[in-house]
Amino acid sequence: MAVKIIVTDASHAHYAEDIRALIEISAQQRGTGIVNRTTEYIAEKITQGKAVIALDGSRAVGFSYIETWSHGMFVANSGLIVAHEYRNTGLARRIKKNIFMLSRKLYPKAKIFSITTGLAVMKINSDLGYVPVTFSELTRDIEFWKGCEGCRNFDILQRNDYKMCLCTGLMFDPDKPRSPKKNKIFIIPAKLPWRIFWDRPIVFIKRILQRQRLLRKFAALRKKNQERKNNN
Ligand SMILES: CC(C)(COP(=O)(O)OP(=O)(O)OC[C@H]1O[C@@H](n2cnc3c(N)ncnc32)[C@H](O)[C@@H]1OP(=O)(O)O)[C@@H](O)C(=O)NCCC(=O)NCCS
Repeated sequence: MAVKIIVTDASHAHYAEDIRALIEISAQQRGTGIVNRTTEYIAEKITQGKAVIALDGSRAVGFSYIETWSHGMFVANSGLIVAHEYRNTGLARRIKKNIFMLSRKLYPKAKIFSITTGLAVMKINSDLGYVPVTFSELTRDIEFWKGCEGCRNFDILQRNDYKMCLCTGLMFDPDKPRSPKKNKIFIIPAKLPWRIFWDRPIVFIKRILQRQRLLRKFAALRKKNQERKNNN
């Protein structure tokens, strides 16, 4: 059965315990970077519609929720979890995309951030348009940093006056959006110099690459001009 990603409501509250257990097992196995949450806390997020859940039939196989800080100026997408048997199938990517879209919808002006030690999350977030930041850019809300108390590296964070730790900070700033990763598109010129291809194939390839660079340069210039026009 295909796994569905759903924005939660009160009807999904009974999954809270399963999700708590999934998080707990992963926290024990990984040992760092995963904060345990109570069933009540997870149920509250689910009921408030501030979470997405991945369901394979009636089984919860993935989850993530939204937390807000500094009076809604900052949003964190937290608690990302995927059940073992469903890992490396792109499920975390789908969950992250959905929770990111939900965050943008509910809090369009907020900066969305995460702190993580996990390469998977770094990859996914960076593809969504997050950029690495120092902890000084993140919320100063003490309640957020209290969430780190359950982490085994909390003493390191405290020792560094909450300015650095083993996690990397990543942030999406709606005022400075970075376009998400796009696959490099190979632009095929309208007219290919086929004659050269038969006579001198290396020169042919060089010419094509040269045209690629020129076309990309023109595209970038056109985009810049368009942005300038929009700003005026
Ligand atoms: C981290 C986790 C959510 C990834 O879930 P997943 O469904 O396996 O991830 P995806 O299949 O969507 O993979 C996304 C990308 O991360 C990469 N990735 C996945 N697991 C990885 C790992 N352990 N190490 C490095 N890269 C990893 C994938 O290769 C993929 O990259 P690509 O698209 O460039 O090939 C999952 O392993 C998990 O639940 N871990 C325990 C909880 C946890 O660590 N949560 C994050 C807290 S910050």
